[in-house]
Amino acid sequence: MTAGESRLIAALSGRAKEEDVSFRTKMLEMAAKLPDVIAMGRGDPDFHTPAHIVEAAKAAIDRNEHHYTHPAGVPQLRQAIAKHLADDYGLAYDQDEVIVTAGTQEAVMLCMLALVKPGDEVLLPAPRFTSYDTAIQMCGGTVVEVPTVQETDYALLPSEIEKRIGPKTKALVLITPNNPTGAVTPPDMIKEIARICIEKDIVVLSDEIYAKLIFDGSEHLSIGTLPGMRERTITLNGFSKSHAMTGWRVGYLAAPKDFIRRLIEPRHTLSINAATPSQWAALAALTGPQEPVQAMLKAYGERRTYMMGELDRWGLSYGHPGGAFYIYVNVSSTGRLAADFCERLLLEARVLLLPGTSFADPAGRHTRIGLLQPIERIREAVARIDAAKAKIWA
Ligand SMILES: Cc1ncc(COP(=O)(O)O)c(C=O)c1O
Repeated sequence: MTAGESRLIAALSGRAKEEDVSFRTKMLEMAAKLPDVIAMGRGDPDFHTPAHIVEAAKAAIDRNEHHYTHPAGVPQLRQAIAKHLADDYGLAYDQDEVIVTAGTQEAVMLCMLALVKPGDEVLLPAPRFTSYDTAIQMCGGTVVEVPTVQETDYALLPSEIEKRIGPKTKALVLITPNNPTGAVTPPDMIKEIARICIEKDIVVLSDEIYAKLIFDGSEHLSIGTLPGMRERTITLNGFSKSHAMTGWRVGYLAAPKDFIRRLIEPRHTLSINAATPSQWAALAALTGPQEPVQAMLKAYGERRTYMMGELDRWGLSYGHPGGAFYIYVNVSSTGRLAADFCERLLLEARVLLLPGTSFADPAGRHTRIGLLQPIERIREAVARIDAAKAKIWA
């Protein structure tokens, strides 16, 4: 125990580590001191949850639906999820092959607890949403990165996966569309990835949380639909991104029944069940009108087209994002590394972005733009950057 440390620090298991948030914290602290900052860094939609979903939660509370539910979720919701996966993605799951979780995040943790033994390797795309790393490491596993690059629009190339499979490889995490790149892995590559996973006998966690957000004729293929894949795939999804429901904390995983049954107890241990009113809200999200989802998609598409045009005008390159609501921008041509660029952007234009280091991308050349501000605010951000360009570019 060193001076100033609590006794608890000496008791730590090694699973709980201090997060290296120094740069992010510094940026947020700087932003807090500036007036009227336009934040385009987070992955939280600016849209509010559609009204009929909110009403369904209120009605559930009024019906006293605020007790524990079955750990796997209310049957009506599990049934609706199974139907949705079949109708929209062609995935064949029964309602008792679905577990509702507190956000997709909890599904990630649950999967890693169920699958990863100390020493197991899990393949993850790079760059990525880094909660996967923490979950794998907390279970004693090792992350093996599969790089994706701007030149191929960050597609997850089957050959890059195959190269990294060894005797310790347990699973591949497939995230399409991906965060932070917006990359959609095309169907022919998904088929090739499936072939490799069958041949090498590894399991797949297919994170499809952005699958409703697809642009420009890109095509989403759920790997669990392919021959021989159902038995080795866990499909993860949720409501945060598609229905602007980040704070409700509802997600789910779907997998064959024998596996799901073994997850019920650990799932119960994590949080017993996803918040009950939120589950009823999620049911309304699936069974109610889908126009709000379409309207949000349209708005993200308009913002994306506009922003790509401005990036082109500035001579900043990016991998073409086929989906999600992000653009992963290469800032090399500004003459600055991403962290420096982001700091300048904040100080000179009051626009907040975070560098790719937040997404396991140490190269320092990229920043993620989240298209999660109304178009007028994005235009305002662009105008501010134009006005301060001479001070931002090196
Ligand atoms: C790829 C990916 N998976 C999972 C999550 C977690 O989402 P949820 O809000 O459903 O827990 C996120 C959130 O940003 C994400 O980007």
